[in-house]
Amino acid sequence: MKNISGYSKLSKEQKIDWLVKNYLHEDEQAKHELISYWHQDLETQKTLDEFSENTITNYFFPFSVAPNFLINGEWYCMPMAIEESSVVAAMSNAAKFWSERGGFKTEIIGTTKIGQVHFLYQGDIAKLKADFPQIKAQLLEGSKYITYNMEQRGGGVLDMELIDMTQHEPGYFQLKVSFETCDSMGANFINTCLEEYATSLKETVGKNPEYGIVKIIMSIVSNYTPQSLARATVSCKVEELGNFGAITAQEFAEKFRMAVKIAEVDPHRATTHNKGIYNGVDAVIIATGNDFRAVEACGHTYAARNGSYGSLTHCKVENGIFTFWIDLPLAVGTVGGLTQLHPLVKRSMQILGNPDAKQLMQICAVAGLAQNFAALRALTTVGIQQGHMKMHLLNILKHYDATEEEKEYALEYFKDKVVSFTTTRVMLEQYRSAKKEVK
Ligand code: MEV
Repeated sequence: MKNISGYSKLSKEQKIDWLVKNYLHEDEQAKHELISYWHQDLETQKTLDEFSENTITNYFFPFSVAPNFLINGEWYCMPMAIEESSVVAAMSNAAKFWSERGGFKTEIIGTTKIGQVHFLYQGDIAKLKADFPQIKAQLLEGSKYITYNMEQRGGGVLDMELIDMTQHEPGYFQLKVSFETCDSMGANFINTCLEEYATSLKETVGKNPEYGIVKIIMSIVSNYTPQSLARATVSCKVEELGNFGAITAQEFAEKFRMAVKIAEVDPHRATTHNKGIYNGVDAVIIATGNDFRAVEACGHTYAARNGSYGSLTHCKVENGIFTFWIDLPLAVGTVGGLTQLHPLVKRSMQILGNPDAKQLMQICAVAGLAQNFAALRALTTVGIQQGHMKMHLLNILKHYDATEEEKEYALEYFKDKVVSFTTTRVMLEQYRSAKKEVK
């Protein structure tokens, strides 16, 4: 049977058995493989299992570090969870390069987060607007039991606005609430507050005949946090950039600035450009147990905030000074969520010196800037394939079960040739038949 009811109630072994029987051709080997990825420590495995639902095994992913990040005068080693080849190498190169030129400078521009109660209102709109200050005070008072702890930590609700959205849909209003959530990412806290506001709104306004009917549509955090923003910058004299082969420092600076400009004005290029930025950001976000979907969604919306999608990084070359920076909006947590639970997340935090949320935001901004610098440096000088091809070649060689000797030969052979599945296959065939003949 390809479908089942009550799957979630089965034990892990039963879940695997059902899967193997129905989707993996009753292959015992598949069952062993799935089980082989279980953690040997039962407690750790239990912790991992509980992060999600219907867990049957663990999905392995490389965990790397990129050392030599000098950020505001302190050394950092960047933990990265990413499967794409060349990203960590590029990150390490950029870190080393800028550590010799003053390092990265970072700052926090804001940490405000947003949540919304979306509702329909049928009644006296002018009265609702006029009385909103009292309604707001009542709602805020009613949520004190939820916000008390956060207030003790220095956070809480910053403001609440009534937004008239009736130009989009008759009766559509929002409570737009801004929050400070300190070292937690905040989604849980914000959603709890919002649901409380929704309930109170129905009570105070919806049940009061002086107003009208309130119909709550939904209450949810917004992952768009343009006011939770970190900036990272690198800067040096143009001549300190050094020459890149035949390309002078001046030429490089101009080409680089132009590459950023292209991503500022062209959405096709900007998408790839920003994707490269998130190669770095996501890797750190995943390593530190944060929500990379939220972080990416936020960044892409921010990149389109002026009505056209553009670059998250910017560059200027003025008075002989090269300056390159990123403004990265993001909501991260260093408490709550996976941060105290996932064993490698705990290690990542330790590697980073147990940062608070503001520090982690700045570290992520550095990761994005470093990754983008490395990508644009390659693109505007030697091209991206030179770095990628070695990995690509090794993957193809693995596919053809190449021996160590064949790998060595292939790396030399492809130094000045284009790598593809076909060229690698032909090379291997020739090499293998030449070897046979010698025998
Ligand atoms: C590949 O994962 C990322 C790049 O394409 C980014 C870019 O083009 O800027 C190299």
